[in-house]
Amino acid sequence: MALIIKPDLEHLRSWRDVVGDALPDLECRDWDKPGDPESIEYAFVWAPPPGALRTFANLKCIFSIGAGVDHLLKDPDLPDGVPIVRMVEPELTQGMIEYVTMHVLRFHREGPALEAQQRDRVWHELITPTAPSRRVGFLGFGVLAQASAKILSALGFDLACWSRTPKNMEGVASFHGSDELAAFLARTEILVCLLPLTPATVGILNAELFAELPHGACLINAGRGGHQIEDDILDALASGQLAGATLDVFQTEPLPAESPFWTHPKVTITPHIASVTQQKSAIEQVAMNIRRIEAGEVPLNVVDRALGY
Ligand code: GLV
Repeated sequence: MALIIKPDLEHLRSWRDVVGDALPDLECRDWDKPGDPESIEYAFVWAPPPGALRTFANLKCIFSIGAGVDHLLKDPDLPDGVPIVRMVEPELTQGMIEYVTMHVLRFHREGPALEAQQRDRVWHELITPTAPSRRVGFLGFGVLAQASAKILSALGFDLACWSRTPKNMEGVASFHGSDELAAFLARTEILVCLLPLTPATVGILNAELFAELPHGACLINAGRGGHQIEDDILDALASGQLAGATLDVFQTEPLPAESPFWTHPKVTITPHIASVTQQKSAIEQVAMNIRRIEAGEVPLNVVDRALGY
């Protein structure tokens, strides 16, 4: 039984060690030295080259190193019938809770304006309302968004979510489907995008959507760069329709040096680190699922290929 692994090269050695500890019966092979492809039964990968996974004829499961699986599903030659498991692990969830909470609070408490005042040596008492009068909306309400909403709810924020199907969380108003998107946006002062990137959500953060938000709303995108039309973000910031944007993801990553976002006074950039899969807890999830599969059970957190998440 062998697992092939394709993390970033700089992390390869430590991933191998962690896999070895958690799954001693499993032979862990490097992507560049797969050995006999027929002996590979599991793949644990981030962005494998298109067509590559098809060369492993006996693959039983493909594990995504990240929560998103768009890096896998864009491969037109993905082997049929092999389950794809997205990463759901507590440390990744915790990281996103921290990121979302930090940036929602920063916008809520007028962080950008206060930072600008400090730069200009301005002493002006900017008084902000408290959380119950701040309306935060989640675009996408999967594991990461729900966990973040729980914490924001405990802080008292007025919360809503928009997703494909209705969601049922106490204290979070649920909107779903294209018919309810406008109503969701109309009540959202801080918009947090945690959607999966699918054909239905690509480019969703565009001028039309921004126009439905209250004037001066803020955007936090910790989903994918493919969700955002970057020129539309710049236009919405210029008109004041968006007061600020915190962007963890971009159409092109790393963000090119010439991007206007780098120096934009209303934009905060983070380099796709909103939340990162942690090795030990990730491998525990992979090991749990491999044990399930070997016992003839269905793995958890399997992606619906048709829906794209
Ligand atoms: C990161 O982007 C992930 O999908 O986990």
